[in-house]
This record gives sequence, structure tokens and C-alpha cells, in this order.
Amino acid sequence: EKGGWSSFMAKEISEEPEAVAKTLLGRITDGTVHLSELDPIGDEVLANVDRIIVIACGTAAYAGMLGKYAIEKWSRIPVEVELSHEFRYRDPILNERTLVVSISQSGETMDTLMAVKYATAASAQVLSICNTQGATIPRESHAVIYTHAGPEVAVASTKAFVAQVTALYLLGLHLAKSRGTLTAEEIAENAAELQAIPAKIDEVLVVSQSIKQLAHWMTDTQSVLFLGRNVGYPVALEGALKLKELAYIHAEGFAAGELKHGPIALIEPGQIVFVVVPSPRDPNSLHPKVVSNIQEIRARGARVIAIAEKGDAAVLPFADEVIPIPLAGSLFEPLLAVVPLHIFGMELAAAKGLDVDQPRNLAKSVTVE
Ligand code: BG6
Repeated sequence: EKGGWSSFMAKEISEEPEAVAKTLLGRITDGTVHLSELDPIGDEVLANVDRIIVIACGTAAYAGMLGKYAIEKWSRIPVEVELSHEFRYRDPILNERTLVVSISQSGETMDTLMAVKYATAASAQVLSICNTQGATIPRESHAVIYTHAGPEVAVASTKAFVAQVTALYLLGLHLAKSRGTLTAEEIAENAAELQAIPAKIDEVLVVSQSIKQLAHWMTDTQSVLFLGRNVGYPVALEGALKLKELAYIHAEGFAAGELKHGPIALIEPGQIVFVVVPSPRDPNSLHPKVVSNIQEIRARGARVIAIAEKGDAAVLPFADEVIPIPLAGSLFEPLLAVVPLHIFGMELAAAKGLDVDQPRNLAKSVTVE
């Protein structure tokens, strides 16, 4: 039931903090991560895994991209992310040392189910991340980590996305622990970062209210671009997908570093560009690079909406609007930065008078290939 909310989507975005909290529940104890869900695969088989392939569609695939950054960094296992419907038609290299991780909210997406069956037949280990108890995909997999986002009704996925990222990060920490690639202290620090996310999303939900006005003056907008770098890149893709799905606006997400290799040609006066800005505390110093991207597009007349860390003074002079997000470790910023983009897609669709929960031509779970 919608409760007092204007749409299921509005309700489900408000449940993003809870989706993360419930997905963490019982999986972090005494500063360490243990996923007994992996037991059916077994420690010995897991220790021999030399490659991970994440398969998913839509929003779940963007969650998978974030999982790649975290799992590789923490466990040093190479991770590829592939759309389910591309995966099985290209003769992928799979063996018993390959761990295939499928991600699906519904657990019924036919493209992902067929990819899972293909992977098991090719003797890969298959772990599924799923939000629906007893769905077909988990039944066809060797092991399953359930996300506990609760039922998601709106077609556009929101709370399931943050829960999927949470589950992938837990998986990354579990693998890092079993391989010894992170120290106990590092695991505890990252686990604490995850546990702090729900309260931080609550803060983001409050500051994101300003997006409503933005959405109202953008109802005639024909095109919106999203830029992000590193973990901000999948967030940019997710922001663009939401605008396509919900507001029927042409939108594209780009890796900010790619701007000069093509997309900057699209920038003309008035073009709206959302930029996901990494923290100025970022040790890889991507922050100045993204700020200079903002200057480049601003100089060509773009209107910039920045999603940046609270107190990031470098962004202020160049952005038309700044959505401030709380401080978090670099890998964890996407769980915060994505929230205003979910709200923006919903608000713009609502401002255009569209059905937020049931966009045209889309279904919640696509059970045909
Ligand atoms: C699409 C939905 O058809 O399927 C998306 O419109 C969703 O919102 C995608 O992300 C994948 O669905 P699932 O259930 O496999 O996560």
C-alpha cells in the first residue's frame, strides 16, 4: 500500500535507508562480515575463484558496476560486468573457477535467468543477489544473498538498487576477509561505513527536496546529461536511465573523463548537466579533474547541477545548483549521490503529469527474452 505517499516510487525512495539497513542486518557482527549464504558454494571452491562476472539488466547492472569497483579493490579478484542478454550470446569463457554473480530485484527477469542457466551449464559457480524470496533465479543458482529492500512496486527500481549495492559490498568484504586482502581493521572500517549509510541517506532525503523546484522549471527540457567519474560514473548512468524511463526525456550518462573525447560537442548554451562530484578528500585526486570538467562545460553555457560533498567550496562558483551530500568514504558516496537523482526522475515525471509508477512501454519484470 502507498500509505500517505503520492506514488509507490515516492514511498520506495523514502525507504532507501531502511533497504540498506535491513540488507546489513545480521551480516556484520563485531566489525566483521560473514555471509553464511555462501556456504552452499563452500570455502574451498570460493578460494579457487579467479574471476567474477556480474550479470544483470537495467538498474541492477549499474549496481553491478559499483560492485566491481569495491570487490576488485578489496578482494583483488578481477570482476567484469555484463548485461545478461549480451553475456550468453558471445561464447564467454567460464569454468569452475569463475563466480557468476547475477543481480535481479524480481528474480524473474528472463534475460538474467537464461544467463544464469547458461553459466551453471558451463560449470561456473552461480551466486544470485535477489530481492524476491523463492523467485526462479535464486532457485537456479548455487547460492543466494537476499537483499531485504521489501517489495518494490514502482517499475523504476530505487530502494532495490541501494540494497543491491549494499549486498555487493558485503560480498566484497567477505571475499577480502577470506583471502586476507584487507586487514581486520580495514574490514571493520568499511563495515562501519556501510552501517552509517542509512542515517546519511536520511539526510540526503531532506536536502533533496530542493529538486522539486528544479523539476518544475525543467518540464520542457529535451535533453539532460549526467557526468560522473569512477564510482560516480554508474551513478550518472543510473540518473540518466531514470529520466528516460520516467520522464521520457533523452538523457545520457558519461564518464567525465570521456567528455573531451566526444560528448563535449553536445554542450550548447542552456544544456542541463548533472555532475556527480567526488569528495575533495578523494586520495586519487579526481576532484580537481571533475571541477575542471565543470568549468569546461560552464564556459560553453551549460547549466550545472552538482551533487557534491557538503562544504565542497571549489564547486560553488561554477554550479547553478548544488545538492550537498554527507561525508563518506569514496566507495560509499554513490549510495548517497544516487538518491537525489532518483528523486529528480520522479519529480520531473510528476511535474510533466506522467504516471510515475507505471511508465509507458515498461514492465516491472520482463519475463520474455
Ligand atoms: C527492467 C526494469 O525491465 O528490468 C528495471 O524496468 C530493472 O527497473 C530491470 O532494473 C531489471 O529487473 P530485475 O528485476 O532483474 O532487477
